[in-house]
Amino acid sequence: MKKILIINGPNLNMLGIREPGIYGSATLKDVEESLKRLSAELGVEVDFFQSNYEGAIIDRIHQAFGECDGLVINPGAFTHYSYAIRDAIDSVKIPTVEIHISNVHAREEFRHHSVIAPIAVGQIMGFGIYGYQLALRGIVNHLQ
Ligand code: DQA
Repeated sequence: MKKILIINGPNLNMLGIREPGIYGSATLKDVEESLKRLSAELGVEVDFFQSNYEGAIIDRIHQAFGECDGLVINPGAFTHYSYAIRDAIDSVKIPTVEIHISNVHAREEFRHHSVIAPIAVGQIMGFGIYGYQLALRGIVNHLQ
């Protein structure tokens, strides 16, 4: 059975509290529960990780080497400047889908650039937390 690791970066533990007008009222637990249900439907295993620390995210990506077949990541603000997270994904060569809850292109200019995008299979954004489902479907389809 394929195993997909779902990583959420900084401040995404605050979903439901943080700027609900942008990110909605669902919590990260709600997101993870809905992905767990979808994983059963898709016949894949999912594992979840959230951290506010760049190094912890990098360590988890390294740990995924030889353990996970695909990665779904919302790197939060690290999206826009973490060459270290990008290099970690590039090091393990695990196919990765980048997901954002909001449409980052409709927001502040610093959010328009992703350093992760060039090494990702694809990006999903602007569909709220439903984007996580699209991302999981996308990576599973890519791996098949
Ligand atoms: C985000 C967009 C980022 O710009 C922001 O820093 C986040 C969340 C999103 O899911 O829309 O933390 O990745």
